[in-house]
Amino acid sequence: RKPPSRKGSMADVPKDLLDQIKRLEELFTVPQEKLKEITDHFVKELAKGLTVEGGSIPMNPTWCMGFPDGYETGTFLALDMGGTNLRVCEINLPEEKGEFDIIQSKYRMPEELKTGNAEELWEYVADCLQQFIEYHHEGEELDELPLGFTFSYPATQDYIDHGVLQRWTKGFDIEGVEGKDVVPPFEAALKERGVPIKLTALVNDTTGTLIASAYTDTDMKIGCIFGTGCNAAYMEDCGSIPKLAHLNLDPKLPMAINCEWGAFDNEHKVLPRTPYDIIIDKESPRPGQQAFEKMIAGLYLGEIFRLVLVDLHGNPDVKIFEGQDLGKLKKAYSLDASFLSSIEEDPFENLSETQDLFQNKLGITTTKPELELIHHLTCLIGTRAARLSACGVAAICKKKSITSCHVGADGSVFNKYPHFKARGAQALREILDWTSRKDPIEILPAEDGSGVGAALISALTLKRCKEGQ
Ligand code: GLC
Repeated sequence: RKPPSRKGSMADVPKDLLDQIKRLEELFTVPQEKLKEITDHFVKELAKGLTVEGGSIPMNPTWCMGFPDGYETGTFLALDMGGTNLRVCEINLPEEKGEFDIIQSKYRMPEELKTGNAEELWEYVADCLQQFIEYHHEGEELDELPLGFTFSYPATQDYIDHGVLQRWTKGFDIEGVEGKDVVPPFEAALKERGVPIKLTALVNDTTGTLIASAYTDTDMKIGCIFGTGCNAAYMEDCGSIPKLAHLNLDPKLPMAINCEWGAFDNEHKVLPRTPYDIIIDKESPRPGQQAFEKMIAGLYLGEIFRLVLVDLHGNPDVKIFEGQDLGKLKKAYSLDASFLSSIEEDPFENLSETQDLFQNKLGITTTKPELELIHHLTCLIGTRAARLSACGVAAICKKKSITSCHVGADGSVFNKYPHFKARGAQALREILDWTSRKDPIEILPAEDGSGVGAALISALTLKRCKEGQ
């Protein structure tokens, strides 16, 4: 379906609300020229992150050194500690090119764990792995299984089975983990339980996405996540990574870089931040961090929306939700991105689903003009997220002089947020001035990076060890 048009129907909207819609439009719209300016700055920041001095984007070398050839084989476990769930998979890579079988179990990541302490975290993770093994391999004598651990946070890696957490992102705030290698306490918790698992590779979800996508499509050059967080990985040559020069690696060797682009523009030079973005940052557990991510990722979209509505209600010049109890709406992070998705999906002609949502979830009875403002606001927030995301993709392509490729993307926002794909593609056209009928760079749904990708990276690592590289 086409993005809704509000033409014609705004006639009955009172002037105070119309003025606000106009103000919000100005705040949240990112025009073509601004997209280009952001992209150009982004290209410079990507390069800066690879230097010894560094910049705000971490550009973490991952020690994932090359693409799969499709003939990787073996059985691997994959553990995915994303932001919302914990997933354990067992992946079998058979002899057939590009094939895989997967079994998996999902465990809910308890909310209190995200702000708890390190010991509780590793115990919980090890318990899930133990349960998985007991359930799927009851009574079997097992050799140690190799595990790819998808740990989707910024980590400094000196080798692939090691990673010092730089800082928590995505609202996590677990004490005693930042600045430390996450592997030893994780392995200790497994050992305590006698679980026969050997960590082979610590993987970022974006690197996993890149490798899993390239396994079935050799045009895939970038892996992206647009989910609870937002980030990308791509393959660099070691010779173009000045911060690794001291290791005297072969300059032609490939090395996947986990950009951690969520940190782009932490110094606020170019992104068009609104007062609402500033509040999100201030109230987050890590103010000053992840400036780009906080404008795009699923974790924040609902909160931006909520902050705008609460602000409008508090404005004496605006009549909105008059005489209504806003108690529920005033609760921070009470609305997630799926709430916005449902509103965007609701046909603009009657907005009855939106009306029900506000009534049932928030206890707010809405008028038609209010519903129209609400709907328009979700379009603005969703469109801005998609357009800003495209700047990151365009920047990597520009940096690597890639003029045509596929980009593998995963995450709840990419997969479920209405029009996200079309809006991102439109922004890419505007940034890169394409006029051809077929887009040379396409962002496509990825293969399962945290499962298959992590397994493939484990397989590639074991192969590299055997070859003594
Ligand atoms: C956050 C994390 C990053 C991850 C992304 C998507 O940005 O810092 O490591 O790739 O979320 O999950």
